[in-house]
This record gives sequence, C-alpha cells and structure tokens, in this order.
Amino acid sequence: MSQIPREIIDEIIHRNDIEQVIGSYVTLKRAGSNLNGLCPFHNEKTPSFTVFPGTKSFYCFGCGAGGDVISFVMRTENLDYRSALETLAQRAGITIPADDSEAEVGVPRKRLYEMNLEAAKFFRNCLFDERYGKEALAYLHEERKLSIATIKHFGLGYSPNNAWMLTNYMKNKGYTDEELVVGFLCGKSRNSGRTYDYFRNRVIFPIIDTSGNIVAFGGRVMDDSKPKYLNTSDTPAFKKSRHLFALNFAKKHCEEQMLLCEGYMDVIALHAAGFENAVATLGTAITSEQARIFAKHTKKVVICYDADSAGQNAAQKAMRLLSEVGVEVRVLKIPGAKDPDEYIKKFGTDSFRRALGESKTGFDYNLEKIATSYNLELPEEKIKASSEACALIAGAYTEVERDIYIRRAAERLGISQEALKNDVERQRRARIREAKQKESRDAQLSVKNIGDRVNPDAAKHIKATAAEEALLGLMLIYDEFRRDAANKTVPISADDFVTAFSRRVFEALCELENSEAGYSKAMLGQMFDIDELGRIERIEIDRRRLARNDRDVFMSCIDSIKQEKNKLSEQSNDPFEDLRKMQEAIKNKKKDKNT
Ligand code: CTP
Ligand code: MN
Repeated sequence: MSQIPREIIDEIIHRNDIEQVIGSYVTLKRAGSNLNGLCPFHNEKTPSFTVFPGTKSFYCFGCGAGGDVISFVMRTENLDYRSALETLAQRAGITIPADDSEAEVGVPRKRLYEMNLEAAKFFRNCLFDERYGKEALAYLHEERKLSIATIKHFGLGYSPNNAWMLTNYMKNKGYTDEELVVGFLCGKSRNSGRTYDYFRNRVIFPIIDTSGNIVAFGGRVMDDSKPKYLNTSDTPAFKKSRHLFALNFAKKHCEEQMLLCEGYMDVIALHAAGFENAVATLGTAITSEQARIFAKHTKKVVICYDADSAGQNAAQKAMRLLSEVGVEVRVLKIPGAKDPDEYIKKFGTDSFRRALGESKTGFDYNLEKIATSYNLELPEEKIKASSEACALIAGAYTEVERDIYIRRAAERLGISQEALKNDVERQRRARIREAKQKESRDAQLSVKNIGDRVNPDAAKHIKATAAEEALLGLMLIYDEFRRDAANKTVPISADDFVTAFSRRVFEALCELENSEAGYSKAMLGQMFDIDELGRIERIEIDRRRLARNDRDVFMSCIDSIKQEKNKLSEQSNDPFEDLRKMQEAIKNKKKDKNT
C-alpha cells in the first residue's frame, strides 16, 4: 500500500476533534481530564471505554480496543484504513491525493466494485433479453408477482445456463481470471484450470452496501433443485457477517423501526408493499456485528422470520443479540403463511400492517411459548413452566422490568407473585456470582496472555514481554528515548527482541523516527491492524500510569530485554540444558535454606 503523507494524516487528526467524533457515537461523561462511556465495541453495562483528549486517543479497558480517531472510525464504520481516512478528510474538508500506485495485495476493493457493477449489468441485460431471460422474467414477474418496477429497483438479473458467458464477457472488459475468481464471479476447474461462471441458470440478487457499491450476489434456482441459493463468499470487498440485504434502501426509512426478515424474497415483497424498512441477513443467522448495525440505524426491530421451527429458533438468537445492543425487539406472528412474502400475497398489505402492530415483545413472545408448551393443569408441568419463566425474567437487567414481567408471568401461569419473585431473585444472585467468577477467570487468563492473538509469543515469555512493552511505552511517550533507540545511541536493536509483535512495533517506531517526514504516531495506522493498534495504545497507557519514567528505567528495560534474549539463546544452544536447570534448582534450594 502506498503511504499517505504524514502531513495529511496529521492534519486530518488535528481537524477531527476526537472528543467530537467519538461523542457522536458514544455518550461520553467527563471524568477529570478524560471522558468515559459505554464501549461501542463490546457489550457492557459499566463504562470502561475512555477517551484521552490530551493524547487524542481512546482505549477500552474491557475489550482492548484502542487507537486514534482514525482507528475509531475504522472500527465503528467497518472501514479499511484508507476509507476511514477519506471519511474523516471529508468531514474536515481536506482532500487526500489520489492513490495512484494501487499496489495493494490481491485485488483492490475498488476494482471488485467495478467488476461487480459490470457483472450486474450483464445479469440485468440477460434477464431482459428475450433470448436468455424469458423464463427467468416469467418466474420473477408472473410466479413471484414482482412488478417490472420492483425488479428494476432491486437490480435483479439472470445468469444464463452457460458455463462461460459471463467469464467471456468480463474478460472482454479487461478483467483477469484471478480477479474473477477472487471476486467470486468465477470458479476454477480443478482438472483443466479453466475458469467458469459461478452462477448458472439462476435469478440474481445484487447485494449493495450503503454507499451504493455492489459487493456481492445471491442467485436462486427457479425450481426445487438444490442448492436453492448460491451466494458470494467473503471477498476482500465483502464480509457477509457485516451486511444486511437492502439496507441501502432501508436506511432512509428506519429511524423508528426496522423489519428483519430471513429471505431476499421477503424483503423485496415487503418493499414493494411499502415497507421499505425491511432488511435481511445474507443466508446466515444474525451476527453481533449485524446487531450493532441495527443499533446504529434504529430504535426498534420487528423480527419477521419464517413460521417454521428453524425460523422461530433463529428468532431467539436475534432477540438476544438485538437486546444486548439496546434495541427494542418485537416478534411478528404470521398465522396461515410460511413467510412474510407469502403472507402479504395471501392476506394483503393492511393485514400485514395489523400483524406488525400486534407483534409481541420478546418477553411476551417467550412467555407465550412457555405457557403453551406445558399443560398447566398438571403440577409437575406447571413447576417446569415457572422455572423456565423464572430463568427468562432473571435475565432482565432492571428491577422495574423484572417487576412487570413477574406480574405478567404469575398471571399467565397461575402462580403467586411472591413465590415467583423469590425464585427470580435467587436465580439472579446465582447468575451474578457466576458472572463475577467468569470475569476474574477471564482477567487471570488475560494477565497470563493466554490466547493472545496480537502477541502470541507473550504467553511463553512473560518477563521479556513486560520489559519490551515497558521500553516501547517509553519510546511512544518520550521523543528522546525514541530518538536514542532509532539512532542506536543506546545498545538495543530489533534483534534483541524476544516476541515478534514487540519487535515489529520497535522497528516501526525506529523507521518512522528515521523517515524524512519524521515520527508521528498517527502513521502507525498504516502499519498495524486495529487490534494491534489497540495493544499499542495499551502499552502506552500502562506506561503513562507509572510515576517513574526516567532514563534509568529506560536503560534497565534494555538490560532486561537483553538478559531475556540471552537466556533464550543459551537455552537453545545448550545441550545440557536439563542438567543445568537441575543444578540451578539445587543451588536455589540451598540458598533458600541459608536465608
Ligand atoms: N439461503 C441461502 N442458501 C440456501 C437457502 C437459503 O443462502 N441454500 C438464504 C437466502 O439468503 C434466502 C434466505 O436464506 O433468502 C432464506 O431462505 P428461504 O426462506 O429458503 O428462501 P426465500 O428467500 O424466502 O426464498 P423463497 O421464498 O423463494 O423460497
Ligand atoms: Mn421464503
């Protein structure tokens, strides 16, 4: 990736006040010179997310997300570094010079967008071309009852029953085999190595992001053959788990509420009927990333899943994920139809609107499910039902909610409020105890750096990591230490580092220090991913919290790093390592006895 000049990045950071930018996503409360709020990157009830206006940075002590205003935008908006920079530049009225040396690894995202657009045009032309698309158009228009206007609005298309038609068309337009395969428009034959069309004889649904780029496609067969749908897998331009079908249209209609459906066809039928706030996940159960997208766009989501048991089970997960991000949830019931598409066709728009109005809150929906799955006339069954209701209510966060639910459940199941209340409180205490235990277990694990993705070596080299991070922290905070290390006026070099991540950070700091433009922390954004940036932020914060950060500390860090490195190389060279260790242990024991 070509580097964006330092002055521009500095200017973008300077003109986008971190407090203001983050404040537009997170409610921040002042705490001394810093600000606190609930972390937008993980679910929490007490604020561990902190903004440091002094260093123009943020850090979450809960999940470890951290960095500057650019990495904040990368995380919240799901953007790569350059796109986040562009967003912020635009916000501040700055222009970034064009990136002409598109030397990205693989196929650049922009190229994939162009390629998909070209393919979408091809599919659409085929649909409306008598020679190829007659049957497909009849399927969409006559069998599925979509108007031509709706078909055009959603950019639907058809992929002919031919293995090379799109491939040839795209190659003529200058796209290479590699690009077509990476973009998932083509497969590659294992035997001949030849590329062929991935979608064949299917109606095509383009998937468009909120900026209007075509990021992927879904293709449905027109009969009962399998698989019913083929979808673009994840590509450099597309992560299935972060997209919602039709959000590009729905985003203008979703302030009050959104409808979450299972299928493309449901969404299209709903939009056509005037419910333009409908979206769908892309053939997978809803993810927490998608739940956050909902939270960003709306207050309330009505889950409009299929009536079958798979749909109803999926509704449970959706309910949980959506309530976790603070979205009000309702669940729609559509008696007499298998999905919203069929319901509207059978019973009409008004009927669907009424059903929406009668959609139940998550609690009522679940209470009803419990009440109807047991025979409440029988004592044993009633006990089971109340214990399930109890678990349901204990999950509610506020006392007011629990109070309301207890009254409702008591009435529905025919038990006393007092009894139910006692059971609920007992369950809650047990849950809180469990949560606390889990928290302290997690904390212990993270102290030991087990499962550390950013610095996998850390678990094995705890002492070395501590010394390395102390040194890096000092280099991040103080220009003089960074200068000394980069100029080699102190005896430390990249080779002395034990863990690979620390070594990379050290090298990056030295490289920037020695670069023509000079050091700017903001430039790290181009060299590390967002999780790594979070770690770098923590390394700096840990250091800032300490009172003593003078040259003696700096020099002793260097000593410790070298010692640890030496120990390691001795170990690997020493054929008598085990023997030596034993002797050492005996020596230490003797020492212990003497003191
Ligand atoms: N899906 C998929 N792959 C499959 C089946 C389904 O990706 N083999 C995804 C599609 O996104 C589909 C959604 O799951 O839209 C819901 O599936 P389903 O209800 O079976 O399909 P519908 O889109 O509702 O299609 P139809 O009403 O035409 O049967
Ligand atoms: Mn369906």
